[in-house]
Amino acid sequence: MTKVMILNGPNLNMLGVREPDIYGHETLEDIEKMCRGRAIELGFEIDFRQSNNEGQLVDWIQEAYRQEFSAVIINAAAYTHTSLAIHDALKLLACPIIELHISDPKKREAFRHISYVEFVATHSICGQGAQGYVLALEKLKEVL
Ligand code: DQA
Repeated sequence: MTKVMILNGPNLNMLGVREPDIYGHETLEDIEKMCRGRAIELGFEIDFRQSNNEGQLVDWIQEAYRQEFSAVIINAAAYTHTSLAIHDALKLLACPIIELHISDPKKREAFRHISYVEFVATHSICGQGAQGYVLALEKLKEVL
């Protein structure tokens, strides 16, 4: 079975109510359901998680390494732009890493233009809304 870890960083638990003009109206639960539906069709087993804590995300990336996940999709949210710890943890992984953003940070404020995840990601999917998560799974189907 192809195991895919989908990690979500801070404030993504507030999707649906958080800046819907930027992030849309889907909740993280809606996104998880969409991912589960598509994953079944693609033959993936997914592990979908969210944390507001940087260290927790690092621990989960290390878990993906130890448990030999086939791929990681990560929306590190604001930690994308700040976290060397997440960058370093992702470097552990030999499997494909997809950087995911609902919005396109490069088209937003200058302080969102740097991504520490981008340097270590195999692919980046940005600005596709919640549908980006499904596109990420489809991309993995191509590359795995
Ligand atoms: C985000 C973009 C980040 O800049 C922001 O801090 C987020 C969400 C996105 O999915 O568009 O929290 O990762």
